[in-house]
Amino acid sequence: MRSVAYVSQAVGQWNDDDFEGLLETSRRRNTDDAISGLLIFCRGYFLQVVEGADEQVSGLIERIRADQRHSDIEMIYESDIDDRVFPQWSMGFEKVDSETLVQKVLAPAVDRGLIAPEVVREALIERFLTNQSA
Ligand SMILES: Cc1cc2nc3c(=O)[nH]c(=O)nc-3n(C[C@H](O)[C@H](O)[C@H](O)COP(=O)(O)O)c2cc1C
Repeated sequence: MRSVAYVSQAVGQWNDDDFEGLLETSRRRNTDDAISGLLIFCRGYFLQVVEGADEQVSGLIERIRADQRHSDIEMIYESDIDDRVFPQWSMGFEKVDSETLVQKVLAPAVDRGLIAPEVVREALIERFLTNQSA
């Protein structure tokens, strides 16, 4: 199995319907494709982790890359995995503030060796925490 994580910037202002529409499609598709994962939205940016069989994950990443609802997609993590980190979630979703992102998501991920500290610093901290306009 493969696990992939990326960050991207949401295009435009997202309202509740936008999130609901995205999650509905994602959860249905992911259930069919046996993909699990997590989607975090923070200050106009997405952080997503997807995990599943290689072929399903690469197919999903292709669709996600082509999706005009976000831009500046940057892969931050990619690895072969034996076990899922989010087996119970077809796509867990959480809107968080910057503090929560760091304390509840990034720090535990680094502690578990899921994301290298330098990746967090460069790809995430810069985007999520220093972009005051987002
Ligand atoms: C931030 C973001 C996360 C997404 N996550 C998923 C996902 O986990 N699963 C999924 O099937 N589609 C996801 N999508 C939607 C896909 O890009 C695509 O629209 C959807 O899979 C339907 O693809 P299709 O119209 O080519 O069939 C996501 C889109 C965005 C913008």
